[in-house]
Amino acid sequence: MTQPWITLRSEETLTLSAPAVVVKDLWFAYREGEWILRGVDLQIPAGGFWAIMGPSGAGKTTLMRILAGLLPFSRGQVLLLGHPLRGKPEPALRRLIGYIPQQLGLVRGLTALENVLLGSLARHDGWRTALGFFPRAEIERAMALLEMLDLADRAHEKVFRLSGGERQRVAIARTLMQDPQLILADEFVSDLDLPRAAQVLALVHRLVRERGLTVILNLHELQLVQEFADHVVILKEGRMVFESPAPDLTWPLFREIMEGEHEISSEITQELRR
Ligand SMILES: Nc1ncnc2c1ncn2[C@@H]1O[C@H](COP(=O)(O)OP(=O)(O)OP(=O)(O)O)[C@@H](O)[C@H]1O
Ligand SMILES: [Mg+2]
Repeated sequence: MTQPWITLRSEETLTLSAPAVVVKDLWFAYREGEWILRGVDLQIPAGGFWAIMGPSGAGKTTLMRILAGLLPFSRGQVLLLGHPLRGKPEPALRRLIGYIPQQLGLVRGLTALENVLLGSLARHDGWRTALGFFPRAEIERAMALLEMLDLADRAHEKVFRLSGGERQRVAIARTLMQDPQLILADEFVSDLDLPRAAQVLALVHRLVRERGLTVILNLHELQLVQEFADHVVILKEGRMVFESPAPDLTWPLFREIMEGEHEISSEITQELRR
């Protein structure tokens, strides 16, 4: 099988040594004075699988949407792939960032293949693609991605007829079609049962390894985080309260952080890691 990403690698000049994400003292409020993010600091190096965890309402989706350039932030600094984010990202930067919302954002009435092809629009601005005429090379690339994700036989099926796991894989294919450097996904596998979620995450893990992508997912299941993520951060009440390699986040430590009132001290962390 061909490796479509090698032939169509982005021509963007990227500083490969730049971290994928740098967030400095980020503050955000939907309503004046009601801070949802309160001084978030985060640095994510390029190439790796990071999980964001935290209780409901902590601000995970909000942070994800800010990183995807969908929400203007109030205070602080965000750098994506070395580029400062101010307001809406430039098209060249937006192209390098694949965002998968919880509802996946697929067009249910279009086929899997057509949905994947839509991912290439980020790389084209011509009227032809807007009208649905895709160059043959793009169609071949989309088919190669579907094949890679074990979906070749579902390519011409409408999305509403696909299973949850199949849709999840179509969403990955559509995002890869864009040829991003960074993939952000919100609650990406929360609608799947554990075995199916594990399958999809194993695939994401493989893509991170093979393509040097940086992937940041909001995940609720510690078991999945321990098994697939490289690194984990925990957001609570709009603040980063914990960060470690994923295998170091044990159940007792996780429970302590999720149930505890305050930021967990480094001594407790050391103690619980033992
Ligand atoms: N559009 C909005 N307008 C006003 N408040 C909002 C909006 N979206 C989210 N919020 C509030 O911001 C806070 C953080 O929400 P967010 O969706 O980021 O949390 P989360 O960590 O993703 O939670 P969950 O795990 O339940 O998805 C919540 O109190 C929520 O009610
Ligand atoms: Mg959320």
